Amino acid sequence: MVDLYNFIAKRTDRMKASEVREILRYAKGDVISFAGGLPDPYCLPSEDEICSAIDYISKFKEKAFQYSLTGGILELKEEIAKYCGEKLGIKASAEEILITTGSQQALDITARILIDQRDYVITELPTYIAAIQAFSLFRPNYLGIPMDDEGMKIDYLESSLRAMNEEGLKPKFLYTIPTCQNPAGLSMSMDRRRWLLELASKYDFIVVEDDPYSQIMFRDIQVKRLKSLDTEGRVVYLSTFSKIYAPGVRVGWIIADKSILNYYELAKQSIDLCTSSVNQYFVLHALQSRIIEKRLPAVINKYKIKCELMHKMLEEKMPEGSKWSNPVGGMFIFGWLDERVNTKKILMDVIQKYNVAYVPGGSFFVDGSGWNTLRLNFTFPTEQQIEVGVGRLAKAIENELKKL
Ligand SMILES: Cc1ncc(COP(=O)(O)O)c(C=O)c1O
Repeated sequence: MVDLYNFIAKRTDRMKASEVREILRYAKGDVISFAGGLPDPYCLPSEDEICSAIDYISKFKEKAFQYSLTGGILELKEEIAKYCGEKLGIKASAEEILITTGSQQALDITARILIDQRDYVITELPTYIAAIQAFSLFRPNYLGIPMDDEGMKIDYLESSLRAMNEEGLKPKFLYTIPTCQNPAGLSMSMDRRRWLLELASKYDFIVVEDDPYSQIMFRDIQVKRLKSLDTEGRVVYLSTFSKIYAPGVRVGWIIADKSILNYYELAKQSIDLCTSSVNQYFVLHALQSRIIEKRLPAVINKYKIKCELMHKMLEEKMPEGSKWSNPVGGMFIFGWLDERVNTKKILMDVIQKYNVAYVPGGSFFVDGSGWNTLRLNFTFPTEQQIEVGVGRLAKAIENELKKL
C-alpha cells in the first residue's frame, strides 16, 4: 500500500478534528448531551412555514434551481440590508453584503485571505472553537485576551498592543464575538466596544465581528454592533441564519467594505461557486414573510427559561470551587472547575459512567490554558434533561474530586 501520509501538505499538521463533533459520536442512547450547539427543535420552521416556502420557491424555479452569483442572490442581499438597518442598527447596501454558506465559511475565507504564516491574530480567551480550527490551518501566532463579565479586557489588550508595538509587531486582525459570546454567553460593554475600535485605529488592524447570537439576547442590555460604530471601514461583520431560522439552510452573510469584500468573493468562487440557491430562497421567503421576527420572542423566552434553569441547577448542585458564566444570551454556559480537574481527561469516563456529555473547554483557549473548563449547551436538551443531566455531572465531578 502507498503511504498516503507522505503526500499530505505540511500545513495540515495544525488541523484537528472538532472535539464537539467527536463527542457527539459517543453522546448517544441514554447519554444526556450538553455538548452540541443545536437550536431547540421547536425553534425550527414549522411544517406550514416550510410548505409555504416551497410554494414560494416553486414560483422562482428557474432561478432557485440554477447556479446563482457567487456574491449571492440580489433580492436576498437587499432584504438582508433592510433587516440589518431595521433590526441590527447596521446601515449597509446590497453591494456591501456577501452571502456565505453559513458563517463558518466566512471564518474559513477570513483565514484564507488575511492570514500569512506567523501573522498575529487576537482572540478572546476563550473563543469559538471552530474559528480557531479555521485560522490555525494558516499557522498564525495567537494572542489571547482574557474576559470578564464585560467581555474582552480591553486594558489588557491595550498593554499587549503597546508591548507588541515596541517590538515592531502588529496584529493582522482581532476576532471577537462581542455579543452573547460563544462559549461564555457574555457581552462586551459599550465603553469597551468604543475603546476597542479606538485601538484598532491607533494600532491599525482589522476587527472581525462574529455575531450569530445577538438576536437571542435575554437580558435587557442595549448594545450596538461594532459594525454600526465603525467609521473607518475596519470592521468585517459576520452573521448567520443558523440560530434565528435554521442551521440546515447553511446561509450566512458578511458586511464589509467593498475593497475587502472582493477578496471574500474571489475566495468563495473556488470554494463552492455559490451558496445553495434554493436555500437562499428559503431565507428570502422567511425574511419577506417576517417568520423570523415573529418567532424570535418565543425563541428568546424558551432559551431564557432553559438558561436560567441550567444556571440555577449548576449553582445548587456542582461542588464548591466551580464557577459559571451568567449568560446574557446565546446558547451556552461556560464553567471553571477546581484547577485539579482536567475536563478533557475525565470526559470519556463521565460519558460512559454517568451518561452525560459536555465539551472540555481547553480547545476554546488559544494559549493552551483552560484544562479545568467546560462548555454546556442549554438550548437543545429539554428542561427535564437539564435537571437530570446537571445532577449527573455534579456526581461525576464530586467523585472525580474525591480521587484527587
Ligand atoms: C461564534 C460562531 N460563529 C460561527 C458559527 C457558525 O455558524 P454557521 O452555522 O452559520 O456556519 C457558530 C456556530 O455555532 C458560532 O457559534
